[in-house]
Amino acid sequence: MSFYKQTIRDVPLDGKTVLVRADYNVPLDEDNHISDDLRIRASLPTLEYLIKRGCKIVIISHLGRPEGRDAALSLQQVSERLAVLLGRNVDFIDQTIGDKVRQLVKRAPSSSIILLENLRYYAEEEANNTDFAKQIAEDSGARYFIQDGFGVVHRAHASTDAITAYLPSVAGLLLETEYTRITEAMERPKRPLIAVMGGAKVSDKIGIIERFVEVADTIIIGGAMANTFLAYKGFSLGASKLETDQNDTIKAIYAAAEKKVGHKVDEFIVLPTDVAVSTSISHLSRRKNVPINDVDNDEIALDIGDATIETMTKLIADAGTVVWNGTLGYAELSEFAHGSARLSLSLAVQSATTSIIGGGDTADFVLKWDAQEGRSFTHVSTGGGASLELMAGKKLPGIECLLDVRK
Ligand code: 3PG
Repeated sequence: MSFYKQTIRDVPLDGKTVLVRADYNVPLDEDNHISDDLRIRASLPTLEYLIKRGCKIVIISHLGRPEGRDAALSLQQVSERLAVLLGRNVDFIDQTIGDKVRQLVKRAPSSSIILLENLRYYAEEEANNTDFAKQIAEDSGARYFIQDGFGVVHRAHASTDAITAYLPSVAGLLLETEYTRITEAMERPKRPLIAVMGGAKVSDKIGIIERFVEVADTIIIGGAMANTFLAYKGFSLGASKLETDQNDTIKAIYAAAEKKVGHKVDEFIVLPTDVAVSTSISHLSRRKNVPINDVDNDEIALDIGDATIETMTKLIADAGTVVWNGTLGYAELSEFAHGSARLSLSLAVQSATTSIIGGGDTADFVLKWDAQEGRSFTHVSTGGGASLELMAGKKLPGIECLLDVRK
């Protein structure tokens, strides 16, 4: 699956000043410290490539969803982590546009790295404001714009869309890798392709479920999303979380699935046969396995059950490709993380299986669990919404506006 946009390999960057859009929207803990730096680590190959070519590198990113300036969401701590990971100095400027940026960039030597302050301190960023984009482009002094923030290319913002009108714009290596790995798994997978879907809501993932009905060989459903499917099938899920307004969507999903596989639909869309329940959600809650037709009124389904875990593990063992999106239970509590942990383990040891881990909660889970920092899997995506939209087959605005490959 070749990428259809120009990348940093296609343009003459030697010695030039370049503006790199990264997605350093990293998770923060209660003390506002970085709790996971996957997105920073994932930006290193592009930065190292640019350093080797003597580029002066100006990086822009957002962090969180601030309304105006918010010290807790400053990118300063990201610049410090980036410096440690790169093993070289990173200058942080507490502005994104203006005189200070112009002066400091002008004075910086080649191969230097400058990170500008959070783009979203300016309302113009999310408004895709052209004047703001133009000013970023001008004040950075850049000759090229490099989009490497895969996690944010589903947004049409000033730094992902409008900016491309002011600078020749190409993809970075992370964006290219994410696009290629995900698209390949969806369009030319090693078969059988098994999709594992979890997370809270069917409504968040309709596009991708519909796509998997078209392209997957089996779809395994877990997480609270499975409760909604099971309730549609007539099971009573006690006090479990479920969406009551998704029956029409699920009906349409089953209609499409039946068209594809006929009466084998329940082998195609695999739902839990048992669940792990509790009457409360806390660190003291203990899991109890029950068949899905035996959930009491006060019980909450919080994970797939042990029999379902065995079924899933056997199915996965024969997979050529597994694409996993959404944890399979209430994985914040280890008692209800069994399903997700077993799936991680199966994928980590099956080196012949291509394993694609969707971003967001799923990536956070496997990274906490995997001592290899995600390297046990073929690809751990840095994109949450972006990977879901790409898997659903949508065009992403932050990719579309980059220069096409030359024919
Ligand atoms: C993400 O984390 O999904 C991206 O950084 C985009 O952030 P947003 O959802 O706040 O636009």
